[in-house]
Amino acid sequence: MSVAASKLEKMLKMKEKISLGGGAKRIEKQHEKGKMTARERLEYFFDAGSFVEIDAFVQHRCTNFGMDKQDLPSESVVTGYGMIDGRLVYAFSQDFTVTGGSLGEMHAKKICKAMEMSAKVGAPFVGLNDSGGARIQEAVDALSGYGDIFYRNSIYSGVIPQISAIMGPCAGGAVYSPALTDFIFMVDQTSQMFITGPQVIKTVTGEIVTAEELGGAMTHNSVSGCAQFVSQDDKACLDDIRRLIGFLPSNNMEKAPEFAFDGDLNVMLDDLNTIIPDSPNRAYEMFDVISQLVDDGDYMEYQPHYSKNLITCFARINGKSVGIVANQPKVMAGCLDMNAGDKCAKFVRTCDAFNIPLLTIVDVPGFLPGTTQEYGGIIRHGAKMLYAYSEATVPKITLITRKAYGGAYLAMSSKAMGADVVLAWPTAEIAVMGAAGAVNIIFRNDIKAAADKDAMAKKRFDEYTEEFASPYQAAKRGMVDDVIEPKTTRQRLADAFNMLEGKREKLPAKKHGNIPL
Ligand code: HXC
Repeated sequence: MSVAASKLEKMLKMKEKISLGGGAKRIEKQHEKGKMTARERLEYFFDAGSFVEIDAFVQHRCTNFGMDKQDLPSESVVTGYGMIDGRLVYAFSQDFTVTGGSLGEMHAKKICKAMEMSAKVGAPFVGLNDSGGARIQEAVDALSGYGDIFYRNSIYSGVIPQISAIMGPCAGGAVYSPALTDFIFMVDQTSQMFITGPQVIKTVTGEIVTAEELGGAMTHNSVSGCAQFVSQDDKACLDDIRRLIGFLPSNNMEKAPEFAFDGDLNVMLDDLNTIIPDSPNRAYEMFDVISQLVDDGDYMEYQPHYSKNLITCFARINGKSVGIVANQPKVMAGCLDMNAGDKCAKFVRTCDAFNIPLLTIVDVPGFLPGTTQEYGGIIRHGAKMLYAYSEATVPKITLITRKAYGGAYLAMSSKAMGADVVLAWPTAEIAVMGAAGAVNIIFRNDIKAAADKDAMAKKRFDEYTEEFASPYQAAKRGMVDDVIEPKTTRQRLADAFNMLEGKREKLPAKKHGNIPL
């Protein structure tokens, strides 16, 4: 065999060994848990055959606890790039079969290098997390490695979309990398995130809780609000991330990819003319409105299990990505609460950072009353959404279908807060508050003095409803650009987004704003 051939053979053997990760036994264990291996995930995630691994030969340099005798294939993390629907994306995938995917100095360096490359070339960055956390043998080198990642997560925030998938354990300070990214996906039953695990909690506070209850996918999707998406298994999670990437641009200097829309934009949506119930106290399904307005009725919900009173989703109108925020009259009558404030603010800022125009659909009776909300800080949580909408410079269109009362009306992307186009249906009621509440305050004395109190209350109620529970007071002042026939809404929205395509808006120069937190 020639020297060149033997060197080639050596290289191929090294690569083969590396590709086996922690070996057959540990791979089997991984599969038994219902999890794919790090490489299987990348293989499945990227367009067929497009993944290119980098840094496969990187090795740790730890000598503590006999580590100098241990070879860790790929340093327990596979990094590289590939294509998602023909677009460049960078990724890392932690290999749980090698030291439990634990993160040491060189493992972190591999991740940082991939992040730097993705920022340099303006490509989304995806992290597939499956790790026992800081590699205990590497002590402070491992901790510092996390610091290097957190720092890059922060400074690249708003530059490239950063997407985290939790596909196994993610414990301790390690959770702060996903937390600093734009989106967190979790796999149901096989992933957990927590700062301190069940054992520590039991010792410190005496609470008994399982890992799944504490930090499982549904806990973070429906209770804590730390995650935005839950998927049934690894494959579904990777499919969902691919789908999300389709709605996003590759970086903050680009627009999201456009998809040819071959449907009929001018189609009349007769159902929308009759969707608003006669009684203001009756709910209707806001998704029935959304699905008629977007291409192919297709949308991808963001945080579908959290604060269901406020819908957030990605969709396309006439082939172009839009971010939709909408009140859901079916849940808490569509009131805004603390969690809705947080959900809305993060979604709006994500859309604005990545040049995705916003559509806000309003049917909101107000902010949720109560001590739980006031003590919990609804003032600052609600302020986040006002702030996020105000500073957003992407095209902003607002559609008012029914109630738009008080501060909540302002918060839901009103004209005064910077909406570019505000359209209202004839059923819109833009007022300081609903008729019943208003009449009891401003006509209290009239009603008290009347011989027939009920008749007087009804008379005043009808007067107020006629005068104020409509879109016309707002339209008279130019706070509503037009009152439209509901069935023409899709056409009008597509036209307005088209008109706003070239929107340019610059905020005053500053170091950065101070969003209420
Ligand atoms: C080194 C680790 C490791 C770690 C797991 N392993 N975690 N090695 N450092 N942190 C190794 C195990 O020794 C084992 O090696 C292999 O990975 C698989 O682990 P198992 O325990 O067999 O797997 P499993 O039963 O599935 O349990 C998974 C686990 C558990 C729940 C993650 O391994 C665990 O509790 N690990 C420690 C978690 C932890 O406390 N990490 C530090 C968190 S604090 P062999 O050779 O037997 O296969 C932290 C701070 C970050 O991360 C701070 C940032 C600011």
